[in-house]
Amino acid sequence: MLYRLLRPLIYLLPAETAHRLGIWFLAALSRSALGRALPGALYGRPDPRLRTEVMGLSLPSPIGLAAGLDKDAEAYPALLALGFGAVEIGTVTAKPQPGNPRPRLFRLPADRALVNRMGFNNHGCEAAAARLAGRGGDGVVGVNIGKTKVVPAEQAAADYAESTRRLAPLADYLVVNVSSPNTPGLRDLQAVASLRPLLETVQGELQAVTQGAPRRVPLLVKIAPDLADEDIDAVADLALELGLDGIIATNTTIGRAGLSSPEARVERCGTGGLSGAPLCERSFEVLRRLRQRVGTGLTLVSVGGIDSAEEAYRRLEAGATLVQLYTALIYAGPGLPARLNRELCDLIAARGWPPGHPMAG
Ligand SMILES: Cc1cc2nc3c(=O)[nH]c(=O)nc-3n(C[C@H](O)[C@H](O)[C@H](O)COP(=O)(O)O)c2cc1C
Repeated sequence: MLYRLLRPLIYLLPAETAHRLGIWFLAALSRSALGRALPGALYGRPDPRLRTEVMGLSLPSPIGLAAGLDKDAEAYPALLALGFGAVEIGTVTAKPQPGNPRPRLFRLPADRALVNRMGFNNHGCEAAAARLAGRGGDGVVGVNIGKTKVVPAEQAAADYAESTRRLAPLADYLVVNVSSPNTPGLRDLQAVASLRPLLETVQGELQAVTQGAPRRVPLLVKIAPDLADEDIDAVADLALELGLDGIIATNTTIGRAGLSSPEARVERCGTGGLSGAPLCERSFEVLRRLRQRVGTGLTLVSVGGIDSAEEAYRRLEAGATLVQLYTALIYAGPGLPARLNRELCDLIAARGWPPGHPMAG
């Protein structure tokens, strides 16, 4: 309600300024016990019936926050307290980098969509590690890693390995992001010839740095919605062959089809990844294809255009183990995760967990 009243004012600010203000506020809340308790008191906590046990982790809800909002692990405690079952921080790169010149984040309200070409602006893996080192065991925090822009493709594996070394011991799960459209050449790493050695290197490093730890750290790969169907199959086969824990699908799209925003407004955004409602059907299709291909073997995290409990349930029915969202939070405000939790709990109470889901028993 409050967010709905404030939204016209927020829209007067450039999108990235509003975003920074939001992170600043959530980071401030995150720093005090009272601040961390506030969202739960205001919005309520996830119903125990939503608890989801997967990859050796216990999540209070299957609805998580996708990567890109809390790039530097500044605000995850408050974000978890909003009701997300997990928060994925990052993308973090081995070295700090400024990202692309501003403006680089644009709203398309008529489509409930965003276009971004942030370019992995982040403080680097050392800074993220320092922030995560102070965290208690509360809540599930995934760490999403990507390639430092100035590092050439031939050295990508070593760059990802450096982030793995620093961050994996502090993560509940690790995600290799090879699907952002805003780092030149990054998505080429999705080709199996490049992806195999990259994932093998990360896997080796992950094993080495978490040996002797009380719990293994699951490894997932995040893919783009713009892959051809054969390439989706190839990544799925590779994930199975290497024994990865899961796949996150999908990142933003470089496509602009089916938008209802005026063409001139879309053009003013320029290049970048489109997220939100227009991504919904493609992301759903990729999920369905992946589930068909991998059988029951892998955890599939579905993300792209999810903005309602019905849609979250539809993804679980189509084979998602977990779901994530980002853009819907920007449009609906901080009460969204708690509302979706309540509505999803009602759906699960009425229909049960979809057949095939690990919680269906
Ligand atoms: C502003 C913005 C920044 C993002 N940054 C990242 C990122 O750093 N790493 C990543 O893996 N995905 C990133 N994403 C993609 C989201 O994690 C998600 O995959 C995508 O937006 C689709 O979900 P949605 O439609 O719910 O937003 C970003 C998305 C947005 C809108």
